Amino acid sequence: MTVTQLGVVGGGLMGSGIAEVAARRGIDVVVVEATDDAAKAALGRIERSIARGLRSSKLSEAEAEAALGRISVTSDLEALGDRDAVIEAVIEDEATKLAVFAKLDHVVTRADALLASNTSSIPIMKLAMATQRPEYVIGIHFFNPVPVMPLVELVPSLLTSEATQERAHAFAADQLGKHVIKAKDRAGFIVNALLIPYILSAVRMLESGFATAEDIDTGMVDGCAHPMGPLALADLIGLDTTMAVAESLYEEFKEPLFAPPPLLSRMCEAGLLGRKSGRGFYRYD
Ligand code: CAA
Repeated sequence: MTVTQLGVVGGGLMGSGIAEVAARRGIDVVVVEATDDAAKAALGRIERSIARGLRSSKLSEAEAEAALGRISVTSDLEALGDRDAVIEAVIEDEATKLAVFAKLDHVVTRADALLASNTSSIPIMKLAMATQRPEYVIGIHFFNPVPVMPLVELVPSLLTSEATQERAHAFAADQLGKHVIKAKDRAGFIVNALLIPYILSAVRMLESGFATAEDIDTGMVDGCAHPMGPLALADLIGLDTTMAVAESLYEEFKEPLFAPPPLLSRMCEAGLLGRKSGRGFYRYD
């Protein structure tokens, strides 16, 4: 059963990217944001990203127009009533995500709709238990920038049905064209359980005065062929999201390597969140 009517809750960096990729693949998408202004901002983000794709000849004028024609934005969660799949992509905060799942359970009328979360680290089991239909809840975790990164992590909970897993796999792989890897429902799944301690180590290196941000990043770009260094990557992910994922990992495993270093906490408190706020480890004008 293919997904033809997708809902995306949250039109930030990840939600707008997911909406764009789905619309470019012919799927009708409704993006729900908290306010009308936020919904407009989400549409602007999608339009700019599609324009970027046009400039680099990844899609034609006609394809761009058709993709935009498949996307609508709203601040009304009830608009998701008829969806056959919904992906939650709101901020990485457990209480916020739990509230979204509880509301989706009431709003989404199709009893067999897939209810997915793009969470990077929050247990899918907790989100599933906020609904009366845990067998339809699954993690479908995308990577930033969504139109560029080929990977999706599929994370079933203990109660996700086989049928839901198969449908989510077919949606991500066949419909969206992503490479799918499967992880158990533990904080951080596969990628962030490896990536976050690496980024935190770079922050500790900077914090201790061991090396400059530029030299740490250059070390990994020129020495290990990473597309960007760990501090530039933290700025891309968002320092608040990096912090939230680190906190989930630390809460789950109590390992010192997952504990957010003080510098990361101070930068988040100061609103230095990376690219999205104009300043993180680097400045973005
Ligand atoms: N939307 C659409 N396309 C984009 C884009 C975006 N936001 N950003 C870049 N692109 C495209 C560009 O159009 C360009 O395409 P062409 O080569 O066809 O022209 C291509 O990507 C490369 O972009 P740029 O030349 O502008 O810049 P770059 O070569 O420095 O690449 C990058 C930018 C793709 C972000 C690259 O640096 C990269 O891959 N970085 C690592 C990203 C990464 O690790 N992401 C995972 C983060 S972890 C995560 O998301 C999970 C989590 O839970 C925290």
